[in-house]
Amino acid sequence: MEQFSYPPSEWHDRYRIQAAWTQSLRERLYELSNLRNANRIMEIGSGTGVIISEIAVQFQGKTYGLDIDHQANAFSHQLDSVTRYITGDGRNLPFPRASFDATLCHFLLMWVPNPELVISEMRRITKVDGWILALAEPDYGGRIDYPPKFEEIGKLQTCALIDQGADPMIGRKLKDIFSQAGLIDIQVGVLSGEWTGQPTLEELDSEWRTIAADLRHKLSDEAIEEYRRADAEAWRTGNRILFIPTFYAIGRVPSYTE
Ligand SMILES: C[S@@+](CC[C@H](N)C(=O)[O-])C[C@H]1O[C@@H](n2cnc3c(N)ncnc32)[C@H](O)[C@@H]1O
Repeated sequence: MEQFSYPPSEWHDRYRIQAAWTQSLRERLYELSNLRNANRIMEIGSGTGVIISEIAVQFQGKTYGLDIDHQANAFSHQLDSVTRYITGDGRNLPFPRASFDATLCHFLLMWVPNPELVISEMRRITKVDGWILALAEPDYGGRIDYPPKFEEIGKLQTCALIDQGADPMIGRKLKDIFSQAGLIDIQVGVLSGEWTGQPTLEELDSEWRTIAADLRHKLSDEAIEEYRRADAEAWRTGNRILFIPTFYAIGRVPSYTE
């Protein structure tokens, strides 16, 4: 993942925008998984700490964030000294069995080769009856772009993600990955879409910075700029639709007799 070729502060802005998309879903899943009564809560792939630092403020449990990128962890620690940020690989977690009451991730699994190893490690470090939450994983295979001229952007972005080593179809695999990990009480769903207002300038800017970075080897700067302007215009006139299904899954660690 080429993420931190940009300063962490830029990724932080991006992650804050993505976190706003899943805000109400997260609240529902935190309720379902009884997060307020968890004593120790771990986020794997915590990035710049947007999700876990919010949990640290909202709930009483001790919070931990683990990311493979030490620069991201240093940045997170500057903003949130309550959470303990640790550098490590989600596929080989440096904690004993049953160390946490709840373990979660948000926009992580798409970026990890062998994501089933992450979920199996999350299960190992979570106590019996504790919850594992994959809060958001996109599925670009179900992407809808309208008007049709934007479909090319969608296809190129999916190819660019594959070139970066990501799995753009991770969303549809979550249920299977949770079942294979032996979790119980699994609930899986997709975040719904609503197109009432327009995206803010900050959101559009952030989206197009990501698209421009993804497509820099696939389209000329002029072509990207032309698409960017057309996109802004389509949002302004009100006919733009962009839907990337974003899946979530939660499941519970069974006791040995279940
Ligand atoms: C898209 S970011 C999401 C950050 C954060 N969860 C959020 O939503 O704000 C994905 C994060 O996963 C981290 N990551 C990628 N592969 C990882 C791995 N194998 N183990 C731990 N973290 C990993 C990246 O460094 C990056 O910070």
